Amino acid sequence: MVAKVEKNKNQKWLETSAKHVAPTNARCFDIVAERAEGAYLWDVNGTRYIDFGMGIAVNNVGHCHPEVVKAAKNQIDKFIHGAMVTSHVPLIELSKKLAEIAPEKLDTVFLNNTGGEAIDAAIKFARFVTQRPNIIAFTGAFHGRTLLATALTTAKSYYREGYEPLPSGIYHVPYPYCYRCPVKQEPNHCKLECFELLEKTLQHQVKPNTVAAIIMEPVLGEGGYVVPATGYKKQNGYMERLRELCDKYGIMLIFDEVQTGFGRTGKWFACEHWDIVPDALVVAKGIASGFPLAGVISRKELMEKWSAGRHGSTYGGNPVSCSAALASIKVIEDDNLLDNARVMGNMLVDRFNEMKKKYPVIGEVRGLGLMIGVELIDKHGMPDGKALLQLVNECFKRNLLLLDCGSHDHVIRFVPPLNVTKEQLEEALAIFEAGLKELD
Ligand SMILES: Cc1ncc(COP(=O)(O)O)c(C=O)c1O
Repeated sequence: MVAKVEKNKNQKWLETSAKHVAPTNARCFDIVAERAEGAYLWDVNGTRYIDFGMGIAVNNVGHCHPEVVKAAKNQIDKFIHGAMVTSHVPLIELSKKLAEIAPEKLDTVFLNNTGGEAIDAAIKFARFVTQRPNIIAFTGAFHGRTLLATALTTAKSYYREGYEPLPSGIYHVPYPYCYRCPVKQEPNHCKLECFELLEKTLQHQVKPNTVAAIIMEPVLGEGGYVVPATGYKKQNGYMERLRELCDKYGIMLIFDEVQTGFGRTGKWFACEHWDIVPDALVVAKGIASGFPLAGVISRKELMEKWSAGRHGSTYGGNPVSCSAALASIKVIEDDNLLDNARVMGNMLVDRFNEMKKKYPVIGEVRGLGLMIGVELIDKHGMPDGKALLQLVNECFKRNLLLLDCGSHDHVIRFVPPLNVTKEQLEEALAIFEAGLKELD
């Protein structure tokens, strides 16, 4: 067992933190970061950690990538903030670049600062454009912390508790989560009976012509890293049917790609795995390697209906964040990080599946690219959050930082940087397996 280094300096800072930092500003680990580089992070004691949390799937090109740092510094010397007084070159360049990498026809960009804000913007956009009031979201989804995003979020009741009444006009349908099928069918051999629940919602609860949008994470994030069902036909899975249904009723399909975007799943955007283009794509996190930036990307003809000044943000599309985003996208392109995410992701999935044969606590391994979830179960097959806590702590003792997700905090998520090396993965896998061996 690796002995934990002294945490004196961490403790000193955490004591001050306890006095002045609001406790709701939670943290996963009791350490205080001082610096970070690539896949590693150092605390104030100088202890090095492998960081596979990446600021909750934000630092897709690794911590403090030199090209991103250079671009941000250059921009700081020129122009930091202008709000909506004038336009600026980084905003225009980034919008053009996003239109280039986004799925076909999504060519017009609105930028603000955080994922939750961008979700609010997308919902306001859909309501404004369709002039319809209602929204359908998925059980298990996480869309952020603003009141509207909280109303859409059902990853855990904990996110909603204490904030009611939440904004209305929101209906929830089950996520197509095969491992824990909402209609108890045989995964991937079914006729997508879960989709009928969505159709029934439109029949019994909310008329289709009053629905402005259906919002979905194409891979469930906080809810447990779930890839949607395909059903037995494979070709006409849940996602394809969702697109058809939205087209039939003139409902806008919004994909929340806050966590899945910018190469995380081995493609620029997760929706490309199904070749499905939403009407609006919500982006944040990986866009600017940690600089606050988020947005909504849609088609020109829809964006044109959202006339000037109907929505806005003082800091949105900040020049420094936009420059950092342009540099981050360039690194992903120049270093072929989409390919690396696929190759390294496949390696991780194979290795976890080997471990699954040895350790019954692993119920399922799933994911796309470098967005991988390992669901832990007890001996009855139920979600095992207790085992997860112990495993994450065992890894932490060995200087590997891992995050959880899932309704019972029972899914370990692996979100290394997209430029992670095989050696770094081996180091982390060895620690992970050592942790598994320690489980009660
Ligand atoms: C899928 C998804 N949407 C929205 C958000 C909210 O983003 P932010 O924390 O930047 O507001 C998150 C954050 O984890 C997320 O994972």
